[in-house]
Amino acid sequence: MTDGESVAGLAAELSVPQKAALCLGSDFWHTAPVGEFGIESVMVSDGPHGLRKQPQPGDSPGQYGSVAATCFPTASALASSWDPDLAYEVGAALGAEARAQGIAVVLGPGVNIKRSPLCGRNFEYLSEDPHLAGRMAAAVVAGLQSQQVGGCVKHFAANNQETDRMRVSADVDERALREIYFPAFEHVVTVARPWLVMCAYNKLNGTYASQHRWLLTDVLRGEWGFDGLVVSDWGAVHDRVAALAAGLDLEMPPDLGVSDAAIIDAVAAGDLAEAVLDQAAGRVLRLVQRARQRKPAALDVAGHHALARRAAAQSMVLLKNDGVLPLTGAPGLTVAVIGELARTPRFQGAGSSQVSPTRVDIPVDELAAALPGATIRFAAGYSTAGDDAGSDPGLAAEAVRAATGADVAVVFLGLPPGAESEGFDRAHIDLPEAQTRLVAELASAVPRTPVVAVLCNGAAMATSTWDGAAAAVLECWLAGQAMGGAVADVLTGAVSPSGRLAETIPVRLADCPSYLNFPGEEGHVRYGEGVFVGYRGYDAADRPVAYAFGHGLTYTSFSYRDLRVTQSGSADAGDLAITVRCVVGNTGGRSGREVVQVYVGDPAAAVARPPRELKAFAKISLEPGAEQEVMFGLTVRDLSYWSALHRRWVLEPGEFQIAVGASSRDIRLIQVIDVAGTSPAQPLTGASTLAEWLADPAGGPALRAAMGTGPDGRPGGILGSDELVRMLRQFPLSTLAVFGAGITHEQVESLIAAVT
Ligand code: BGC
Repeated sequence: MTDGESVAGLAAELSVPQKAALCLGSDFWHTAPVGEFGIESVMVSDGPHGLRKQPQPGDSPGQYGSVAATCFPTASALASSWDPDLAYEVGAALGAEARAQGIAVVLGPGVNIKRSPLCGRNFEYLSEDPHLAGRMAAAVVAGLQSQQVGGCVKHFAANNQETDRMRVSADVDERALREIYFPAFEHVVTVARPWLVMCAYNKLNGTYASQHRWLLTDVLRGEWGFDGLVVSDWGAVHDRVAALAAGLDLEMPPDLGVSDAAIIDAVAAGDLAEAVLDQAAGRVLRLVQRARQRKPAALDVAGHHALARRAAAQSMVLLKNDGVLPLTGAPGLTVAVIGELARTPRFQGAGSSQVSPTRVDIPVDELAAALPGATIRFAAGYSTAGDDAGSDPGLAAEAVRAATGADVAVVFLGLPPGAESEGFDRAHIDLPEAQTRLVAELASAVPRTPVVAVLCNGAAMATSTWDGAAAAVLECWLAGQAMGGAVADVLTGAVSPSGRLAETIPVRLADCPSYLNFPGEEGHVRYGEGVFVGYRGYDAADRPVAYAFGHGLTYTSFSYRDLRVTQSGSADAGDLAITVRCVVGNTGGRSGREVVQVYVGDPAAAVARPPRELKAFAKISLEPGAEQEVMFGLTVRDLSYWSALHRRWVLEPGEFQIAVGASSRDIRLIQVIDVAGTSPAQPLTGASTLAEWLADPAGGPALRAAMGTGPDGRPGGILGSDELVRMLRQFPLSTLAVFGAGITHEQVESLIAAVT
């Protein structure tokens, strides 16, 4: 195959066995070559946060490790930067490393929604909010593909837990799919045009994602226009022919001798149209062709480590600060650095995204380097060995000694490596008891030394049980190999913290909207909370949270003023454009970055809607005293809900709240706008209720006319009594006819004929 040769044309020249072979990999990481036609194989590799190229052929479980690569902040960290430009840079660096290693496709990013804080892979996913997840993931893919390396958005769809992930049926109503679980995929596919989409392991509403035609073909290709390759998650294929027919092009890893034989037999028996095989094989050829544009690159170890440090610092979220931070480098300062995690940092999660880092910054060393005039006293405080890292009274006593007389105790806390990983979900959201006990002990034994808690964990953890004893809390997530340097940058104020929560930190696990429906049972997990995922659910139930979605402090303060929301175009014509403008100022004494967030609410809707939904955001930098006008655009879709009744997006005319703020619970400005439009007509039938008939612009007058007028001039029949109307308003019209409530079956029939 030459570069210019038509891929479709070539697919037609191949034999059925050659095409079947192309639709399977040749081994764990490679597509199949077709030597006769000069088609080489290309290598794919994991790497949402850093490349995991396995050097040993056939090393499927990864026991020989992977080649050294920069370990960038994991997705939960990167998303907390709320900075798509930064995500683009990280994507481009990943792409460059892939080029250096001869990799054609990086298997990421993962955009599954954090439905529960328990999901073991939450560190690999971006957010509980689809808008934020979609924007950040699209930027990563755009960065990757700027290097002519393919992005592969995964896992499509509704893979929101690890428990039984290979089989469980995620039972999700279409509205929740359309509003919560699809939009991040949809945005990445339509805007960043990834080369690949990876299907999920699980079933969606009873059908394996790998065999789900509506998912892989009707929605993904038909509605969103995806023109790339659909690859299976590793081992997600159960019936190769059904998967091919549903739209799954490439099976990885290949079930050699089984899947290819099944395809060949199905074509021979007429059970699978050869055109379907041609199309899938053609897409694999297109991938090979695209990969040829990639030029080799050298690995920029130092440059990428510096980027990893910058990205980590931008991603850290300052949850709480009574003023103890930033630490000054005042001569004579004594800093107790406590916690095994300060010496043995945890900076990435386990499983298929695990990277062999090029180097690792040690937080305690980096802090010492950043505070040259200070005395640093280190104490481990606890051990991280074992699953629920053990408490050791000796280690705790040593920590108390180190903190005694110190100006500040920087206490590194977090989950031990065995606590969160691909492959299983967490059982709770608590820190190991040894660590919370240590915080309490420090607070009571050394009350004059303020505790700054530094958290290293991949997903939301409960803080309310212990953070009252901390003067400041910095959430670092799993921030990659340069976490140590980045944490020193933020603690000392060399970098002002600017991360914001991409997931709510609940007070208690039991408060989570998905709590009663996670992780399901008997092969099914029912997404019973519907669209009320994350802050949408906490806000709708008005439930307290520890730290709200979008929250994050800085070392300065910001003011918001002059919200102006204007409309042009019209909802009915589909070109409604809403412009949101406001002025944000830095009112503090240091430069800083603010994340301006725009939430939309529809207070009087026909369906239950979350009070606030994020629809736009911008991260801006301001010097002290400076102001900036920030502008956002919203569309019809941003105001609409997915109607299960009409099976489409519906914009209800009327009032909408446009709220601008610094978090989902720190709204600074609100403007109510009136949006004109026509609600979709709901066809009236005999099953439509009295209330629906009366509310309908044609049905109401027709029904009133049919009921006539009473002797007193009031409406006839039951319509003359407000009390009866109230009582019977939920009755279908045909049931009223059965009751003989002033209307006959014949009248119902002619009313229907009159209004349809
Ligand atoms: C994971 C994918 C990963 C693949 C290849 C699967 O188990 O779910 O995210 O890309 O393995 O390692």
